[in-house]
Amino acid sequence: MSDLLAALNSLRERLKEIPQADERRLQELKTELLGRRSGALTEILKAVPGLEPDERRRVGGTANALKRELEGAIAAREQELKRGATVVAGVDLTMPARPQWRGGLHLVTQVVDEICDIFKELGFTRVVGPEAETERYNFYALNFPKDHPALDAQDSFYLGGDVVLRTHTSPVQIRTLENYPPPIRIVVPGRCYRRDPFDASHSPVFEQIEGFAVDEGITFVDFKATLATFARRIFSPTTKVRFRPSYFPFTEPSAEMDVQCQICGGSGCAACKQTGWMEILGSGMVHPAVLENCKLDSEKYTGFAWGMGPERIAMLRYGIPDIRLFFDSDVRFLEQFIR
Ligand code: DAH
Repeated sequence: MSDLLAALNSLRERLKEIPQADERRLQELKTELLGRRSGALTEILKAVPGLEPDERRRVGGTANALKRELEGAIAAREQELKRGATVVAGVDLTMPARPQWRGGLHLVTQVVDEICDIFKELGFTRVVGPEAETERYNFYALNFPKDHPALDAQDSFYLGGDVVLRTHTSPVQIRTLENYPPPIRIVVPGRCYRRDPFDASHSPVFEQIEGFAVDEGITFVDFKATLATFARRIFSPTTKVRFRPSYFPFTEPSAEMDVQCQICGGSGCAACKQTGWMEILGSGMVHPAVLENCKLDSEKYTGFAWGMGPERIAMLRYGIPDIRLFFDSDVRFLEQFIR
C-alpha cells in the first residue's frame, strides 16, 4: 500500500505540468495519466480492488481525488488553449469589428468632374495649367491694360517680381494658343487665388473652370447654344438661361449668363434677391487682341470663352449657404455628398 501511495504522490507532481502544456503535450499527458489501457493512475485504480478494505478506502479515496484534480486541470487547460487559438499575432479574432469608414471625392471635385464631362461630350478636352503665372500670361496677353486694378498687390498674391498666383484660369487660353493650332476646344479646371475676404461668398483660394473654343467660323450662336446646353445638363432640361451684357478685357462682346433661380424656380426669393435669376458664369467672344497676341489671324479665327466657379454652382444646386463649408473639412458636412 505504501508503494501505491508513493506512486500517487509522484503522480500529483504531474499536475504542475498541465497549465504549461501545449495542445500536443496535453494529449500525451492525458493518455499517460488517465488513459484507459495503461494510464498511470488507471493502473493504480485497477490495483485497488485487491487491497484490504482499510487500504482500499485510503488508496481509493486518494486516487479518485487525484483523478478529479487531473481531469479538472486538463479540462481548464483545454479551454485556455481553445480561446488562445483565436488570438493571432496579438489580435483577438473574436473582438467585434470596427465600423468601416468610406471615403469619397470632395463635392467640389465631383462637380468639377461632372462639368468637364458635360463639355467632353460636346467635344472639349480637359487640360490644366500652372498656378504660378507671370503677369504676361495672367494679364497682358489677355488684353488687360497696364493700370488694371487686378495688377495691384492689393488684389492679387504676388510671389515676387512679375510672378503672381493666377487670379483666374484664363491664362491657359494663352498657353494653349501658343502651343496648339486651331481648332481648339478646351475646358480648364484649376485653383485660383485672390486677395478676397474669407466670408460666406468669398474665399482667397477657389476653383474655376475655364472654357475656350477657337476655330474658323465660330459665331455668337455657337457660343450661346453651347452654354445653354451646358446649363440644361448641369441643372435641369427645362432650366431657362439669359445673357446680360458685361465687360471683360479678353472678350468682346462680353456677357454674363444667368440661370433661373434653382431655389424658387424664378418667382423670386431671398437667394436670388427677388430677381428670379442667378449668375453662373462670365463669358464672351474671344477678343481679337487675344488672338493677335498669340500670332493668330483674327480675321480668320473667332472663338468664345467663359469662366465659372464650381463652388458657386455646387452651392446653387444643393442650397449650400456658405462657401467656407468646402474648406472646413468638417466630415458631418462632407459625408452628405459621398456617393
Ligand atoms: N476670368 C474671369 C474671372 O475670373 C472669368 C471669365 C469671364 C473667363 C469671361 C472667361 C470669359 O473666359 O470669357 O472673372
